[in-house]
Amino acid sequence: PKRVGILTSGGDCGGLNAVTRAVVRRARDYDIEIYGIKDSTQGLMNRPVDAELLDIKKVSGILRYGGTILGTINKGNPFAFPMPDGSLVDRSDEVIEGYKQLGLDALIVVGGDGSLAILRKLAQKGNLNLVAVPKTIDNDLGATEYSVGFNTAVDVAVEALDRLTYTAISHSRVMILEVMGRDAGHIAVSAGIAGGAHVILIPEIPYSMEKICKTLSERRDRGINFSTMVVAEAVKTETGEAVKYTNSLGQSLYGGIAQYLGDQISTSTGIETRVTTLGHVQRGSKPSALDRVLGAAFGVSAVDLIAQEKFDHMVAWQNRHIVAVPIMEAISQYRAVETDGGLIKTAIGLGTYVGEIDR
Ligand code: F6P
Repeated sequence: PKRVGILTSGGDCGGLNAVTRAVVRRARDYDIEIYGIKDSTQGLMNRPVDAELLDIKKVSGILRYGGTILGTINKGNPFAFPMPDGSLVDRSDEVIEGYKQLGLDALIVVGGDGSLAILRKLAQKGNLNLVAVPKTIDNDLGATEYSVGFNTAVDVAVEALDRLTYTAISHSRVMILEVMGRDAGHIAVSAGIAGGAHVILIPEIPYSMEKICKTLSERRDRGINFSTMVVAEAVKTETGEAVKYTNSLGQSLYGGIAQYLGDQISTSTGIETRVTTLGHVQRGSKPSALDRVLGAAFGVSAVDLIAQEKFDHMVAWQNRHIVAVPIMEAISQYRAVETDGGLIKTAIGLGTYVGEIDR
């Protein structure tokens, strides 16, 4: 039989195990053996190579679990691998050698834009046969309308907004929810609409503090005692600065824009604000039904692509169909929120303040 590896790379999210399970189940139809590689490319770097043969029993029941049974890393680029002494070393040859030691005919990588770019570079250098499955809660990969994990993250954010609304009403407050999304506002827009937020701020559209305060004060003046806001983590201040902090490892991370806005709002309007930063709760949830369906469909199609030897392609969701697109197409077209798209129009139609955009 052919031997195919599967690895998950980058941040975890809901639906990864659905992909792994579907790959193993579909592989039976082609008499393909699936090897689960531990911790992304790290498993191929380790000696002995850290991988195990996955059979139906090993993936039985995992569909409903968050995380990834394979493990993952998002700070281990083999071309610039961080060593304990702080230096960066090119260890790409070790990964390529690991693929060969395992006797793989192809590799399925489940990843976002960063991981796919690195894996594609490795595949080109070492002549590896690669097929990709898109996953990211940020939903910012090009060439696919949905990536695995996005829908689960939105569900978590909507539930958070629902809960915060009770406190907003009970305490006559403005409750502000900061959501993830890296440089894109997809989670904020969908969660904001579904959760009934009165202000939605995303990095793609600049805001005016005056207008935010006007929106909130008008609600108060109409006798409505509460409001909710969703803010994407990468929203910049009015003067265009990203709100970030650097941790003890020197990593620069988003966080704090909601608190920054909350303080300004209460100073200007006198309304009490409280802030919740949702963080990794958005990634580690039980996968939504849609992410399970998407993961299953992508997993089956990825194995089909391997059987057809259609390498260097990514499975994608376009117009209600699963299609195959060159990996290059997905990683070269960053997908931001379309500021004139249907969802922004919907939010505006609902009377939500989404920033300074022509109405
Ligand atoms: O890309 C997924 C994501 O969760 C982003 O939304 C977020 O900015 C980032 O990863 C957080 O990364 P880490 O898990 O390394 O803190």
